[in-house]
Amino acid sequence: MSIKLNDKYVKNFITDTEIEAYREKVVETDKMLRNKTGKGSDFLGWMTASCAYDKDEYARLQAAAEKIKKSCDVFIVIGIGGSYLGSRAVIELVKSPRYNSMKKDTPDIYFSGCNISATDMRELLALCEGRDVCINVISKSGTTTEPSIAFRIFRQYLEDRYGKEGSKDRIFITTDRARGVLKPLATREGYETFTVPDDMGGRYSVLSPVGLLPIAVAGIDIMELLSGCEEARVALSTADIDKNDAYRYAVIRNILLEKGKGIEVLVGYEPSFQMFSEWWKQLFGESEGKDGKGIYPASVIFSTDLHSLGQYIQEGQRQLFETVLSLESADDDLSVPDDAENIDGLNFVSGKSLYEVNQTAMRATILAHVDGGVPNLVLEAKDRTAKTVGYLIYFFWISCAMSGYLLGVNPFDQPGVEAYKKNMFALLGKPGYEAMAEELNAKLQ
Ligand code: PA5
Repeated sequence: MSIKLNDKYVKNFITDTEIEAYREKVVETDKMLRNKTGKGSDFLGWMTASCAYDKDEYARLQAAAEKIKKSCDVFIVIGIGGSYLGSRAVIELVKSPRYNSMKKDTPDIYFSGCNISATDMRELLALCEGRDVCINVISKSGTTTEPSIAFRIFRQYLEDRYGKEGSKDRIFITTDRARGVLKPLATREGYETFTVPDDMGGRYSVLSPVGLLPIAVAGIDIMELLSGCEEARVALSTADIDKNDAYRYAVIRNILLEKGKGIEVLVGYEPSFQMFSEWWKQLFGESEGKDGKGIYPASVIFSTDLHSLGQYIQEGQRQLFETVLSLESADDDLSVPDDAENIDGLNFVSGKSLYEVNQTAMRATILAHVDGGVPNLVLEAKDRTAKTVGYLIYFFWISCAMSGYLLGVNPFDQPGVEAYKKNMFALLGKPGYEAMAEELNAKLQ
């Protein structure tokens, strides 16, 4: 197994009997999930389709990725939420958060349409100057405000630079197969399109063309990623909480929540986990945060944040628990040089590898936080290869589905994200929203 759950650091906080009490409920919930009889079961495509692949579609996707690699220096991925977080997470975890500055034979990749910042947009446009550009617009609906605005700007930019005809080969659209506004536009203009599967929400879509096209452009082996997902699908197909670590993780989270631990902090000891944590936050936040329920997902990168949030975690309000992502092997290592003068008094670490020091920091922190009243779960990942990352993605998907159902919510919808949009449309003057605009403006006075 590429990912193992180590739950020994929660033993002071929960009992085996409490875990045992969930055993039957997990078996029933697993049946409901696999028989597609639970809430939101129209969105379970990720359970099977993600790890398998349609040979023709993926050959076309690989061909498009090769074409993009050859024809541009800068690849702009336009999307928000589930339409961009997964690919960015995988690229930064498997390659590096410094991917764009690395020596490579693949294009720089920038993400746009995930905010409404003019500064960010101006900076991106400036980065494109003098370099060849391709874009991939990812939007199921095609009408989400942030990516739609970014698409307008980049489409105009490409047409000004390459002409309408020349831009055709530089615009790639990933959208709904039939519904939405982008498919007809792409057909009319001759843009190549890929499909957002009907049965996958954004946060469950990274292993579909939504995430796979940018990931392939970054030079990551997508077959390896999918094989990791398949390995997890097989390994996590049992409903036995002694054998299925994803379900056990789901159970423990729910018990901790019942005990007042309403915040889960995902902890990474490598900066490359930063965007992966953002993806994880959307997955659990959108899946569980509803009906007045849910664990608030937060994240930190240690040891960096031990010097900012470490104080709070050690001694602040006792409403949190941590899930630590531990890398069980170092792909890059260095050793600490000796210093004849020992100015900093650190010669006791001379000759030790940075990986060893980092792992020791992790163990020391876990023990300190557990002593401080913070339960710690550890997910041990073999490495950060595409295969293990594919496994980790499926691991979190299935545990999130289980956890959401155990909590009593529909883990596959996100009704709450509409509230801000309605207000924003009204305040921006969208036709049909006049009465609402009047009401909101009065509140803003
Ligand atoms: O998970 C989700 O469903 C959301 O994050 C969506 O991906 C996001 O809102 C973007 O929607 P769309 O793909 O329609 O532009």
